This record gives sequence, C-alpha cells and structure tokens, in this order.
Amino acid sequence: MERAEAMQQFEAFFGAKAEDLFTAAGRINVIGEHVDYCGGKVFPAALNLRCNVYARKTEGNVIRLAFRGIDDVVELEINDLNAYRKLKLGNYQAGVAYYLQETGVTIMPCDLYYDCTVPFGSGLSSSAAIEVATAVAFCEYAGIAYDKVQLALISQRAENEYAGVNCGIMDQFASAMGKKDHAVLLDCATLEYSYVPLKLGEYCLVVANCNKPHNLVESKYNVRRQEVELALKAIQTVLPVNNLAEVTPKQFADVKYLLSGAVAKRAEHVVMECDRVNKAVAALKAGDLVELGRLLNESHYSLRDLYEVTGKELDTLSALARKETDCLGSRMIGAGFGGCTISIVKKTAVEGFIRRVGKAYVDSIGYYASFYETSIEDGITVEKL
Ligand code: GLA
Repeated sequence: MERAEAMQQFEAFFGAKAEDLFTAAGRINVIGEHVDYCGGKVFPAALNLRCNVYARKTEGNVIRLAFRGIDDVVELEINDLNAYRKLKLGNYQAGVAYYLQETGVTIMPCDLYYDCTVPFGSGLSSSAAIEVATAVAFCEYAGIAYDKVQLALISQRAENEYAGVNCGIMDQFASAMGKKDHAVLLDCATLEYSYVPLKLGEYCLVVANCNKPHNLVESKYNVRRQEVELALKAIQTVLPVNNLAEVTPKQFADVKYLLSGAVAKRAEHVVMECDRVNKAVAALKAGDLVELGRLLNESHYSLRDLYEVTGKELDTLSALARKETDCLGSRMIGAGFGGCTISIVKKTAVEGFIRRVGKAYVDSIGYYASFYETSIEDGITVEKL
C-alpha cells in the first residue's frame, strides 16, 4: 500500500495525522532450519517485505490499534495489559506492551495503524515483524534508549508466553538486527552474531510461496520441539552437551543407537543441518555458489525425509526449481508445512524461471504459487513523518 493511502487510512480511523513510521522486517533464512531452538547457528536476512506501523502519541490510558483491510479498532487498556491473551487481533501487540511494561518501560498511550506487507502464514515471519515494529514504537514513545537484541528477546517472549507459540529466537532477531545486503550468522545458544555480505554475483534469491492453506502449523511445530528435547535428554546420558547443536556428526554416529524412530530422525537432521550451516557460510564467503546451492538442496531433503516438515506443495515447488538449468539450489524456509521456498537463480533467467515453475506448479497442485520481488534490507527503521 502506498504511504499516502496508509496515512489517509490512519486519519480516517483516528481523526488525526500519523506522526511517525516504525517498521520491522520479515525474513528469509538462507540455511539453518529448525535448529534455533536446539542452540544451533542460523543464517537469516531481513526483507523489504515489512510490518509498517504508522503512529502518533495520544493522551489517556489506551492504545488503539487499526489494521489494513479490517474495519475495526482494537483498544488495549495500558493498566490491564495482561488481559488480552485470547485476542485474535492485537494479542502480539498486547504481549509486547505487557512484557516491556514488566521490564520497567512506561507504555505511553498511542494510535497505531498496521500495514503489513509480509504475507501472513507465508513462513516469512509476519508475526516477528509485527512484534518487533510494535516494540520499537513503544520504546520510542517511552523516550528510552533501547537495545535491539533486547527487543528481539521481548518479542520472542510475547510470542512464546503471551500468544502461546513456542518459537525460537531466529525470526525476531533477524527482524530487529537484519542489515541491508547481509545475512546474519547468529549463534542461537550465545546470541553472538556477525554479518556476512549476501553477495550472489550474477545470481539472486527468488522467494516463492506455495500458498498451501495454513493448518495446525503451531501444534506440529511444538511436537518437533518435544522430539528434539527427548533426543537431547537421551544423548546427555553419554555426552556432556547442553544443546543438540553441540553434537558433531561424528559423535552423533556413535550415540545414534540411543535413539529410535522419529526422535532419531529429528536429531540427525539437527546435527547435520548445523554442519551444513558452517559449510554454507564458508561457501558463500569463498564465492562458491554451486556448493551453496548443493547445501540448500541437502537442507531441503533433510527437512523432507528426516524432519518431515515439507509436504507435497513445498516438495513440488522446490523440485521444479531444481529442474531449471539456471537454478543452483532450492529449499523450504521457516517452520514448514506450507509457506515459502528460496531458490538461487541466475538474474537473467528469473523471468523464465517464474513462468515455467509457476505453470508447472499450478498444473501439478491445482492452485498458484506466488513469487515475490525481494531485497535484503535493514531490520528496523524509524522515521518522522
Ligand atoms: C519458525 C520459528 C523459528 C524457527 C523456524 C524454523 O519460523 O519461529 O524460531 O524455529 O520456524 O527454523
């Protein structure tokens, strides 16, 4: 939505002009899937698809929220922020405000209008973008200096404890800490991070949404978390590790006998995916995009066969991409069970890639995939209007 239109909407809802624009990014993840909650390294990057929050300070004791495309205003009482856990719309905002307040931030009354260009349910982390952008708005209006990593942690807490989704730290961290044209190599056990230029030369990343209807993603996600916790407990009886990500592939081969069935498969994915992250970062730094592409494919196969979070739509979309001569690799990103893939595609071939993959996908699945024009941008932006 154009800015002018969003500002008009703001005025229509709240009867006054927006004064500030706070934004936070959706994300992709180059590699390192389903390892953040196992203390592994992830390699996400912030997108031009974002949660834009138009805002103004008000008086009184209420936060008012409005949303693009929804003809309603949600009100949150600043003195009763624990009361909105069951809200369908506004619970992320209330959760962020609640935990910020708990850490001593004075939550100021304000009007916030949400124009989120991260497609919902796409695996590009619209929820993290909403949480982080909201946290920025409240901190800016409280007039405090804030640490972006702390905002990411508070946002994650809002999602875990307030909204009840047991996610790791990757999405909120990428949304808050992303940097233009870089991916963030984040160690989720220590929160140490570094930026690596996402330089793909004559190639680029194509982001495609398989558009599978969202269905029970959160409960299936939580089951995976339980399975890897069981694996860790079993492995800890013989190895002194705090996280599954600390187990090397060689050590895993020695302790695998302790595990069976789904638990063994899940753990194997985590161990091997952590190994692939290191290899992928080295390949990218060395400019070896063929190797990077190969690792992306391996990651997808592992998420399909061992972690079992892909499904026929994501498998079809990434397989069709791999069939293209100018595509070096393709994989699902995010939680899975639907959502997006990324593919490394030669820039000059993108148009044909989208046409052919898009056509073959609808022929096989029966509905369309969406392809997004993306770029890698800063995580958070703050602007006076
Ligand atoms: C979701 C979660 C993240 C991460 C990914 C899988 O996006 O929010 O914390 O676990 O799935 O890598």
